[in-house]
Amino acid sequence: MLQVLVLHGPNLNMLGIRERSLYGTASLRTINTAITKLAKQKGIHVDIRQSNAEGELVAWIQEAGRGKVDAIVINPAAYTHSSIAIRDAIAAVAIPTVEVHLTNIHGREEFRHRSYIAGVALGQISGFGPYGYQLALHAIHQHLKPNKAL
Ligand code: DQA
Repeated sequence: MLQVLVLHGPNLNMLGIRERSLYGTASLRTINTAITKLAKQKGIHVDIRQSNAEGELVAWIQEAGRGKVDAIVINPAAYTHSSIAIRDAIAAVAIPTVEVHLTNIHGREEFRHRSYIAGVALGQISGFGPYGYQLALHAIHQHLKPNKAL
């Protein structure tokens, strides 16, 4: 079974309450339930965590590097645009990582266009709402267990 660590960054615990016109009405709990459901169907075990603290996210990425984690899905939220520490942690562990954003960060304010994470990620999924996490699981599965027909 593939082991995937799913990390949600700051303020994502407030989904469903926070700026609903941008981020939608689904709570993080609802999103996590959908992630877990698809993961099961694809034979993936998910460990899902959320933190508002940069250091905690870094510590979890480092922990993944010492463990048996096959891939990481991360929505670094605002740390996307500021955190060299998270970028360096991902580079250090060298675990395939998919960056997810609910909104299309490239269509928003200029300060959101730059991602410090993108350069060390396998790829970035941005703008598809909670479905982005489903896309990330499909992408990871295809990356690690390629269906040659595709
Ligand atoms: C976000 C986009 C970030 O710019 C923002 O700071 C977030 C959420 C997204 O999922 O669209 O908190 O990562």
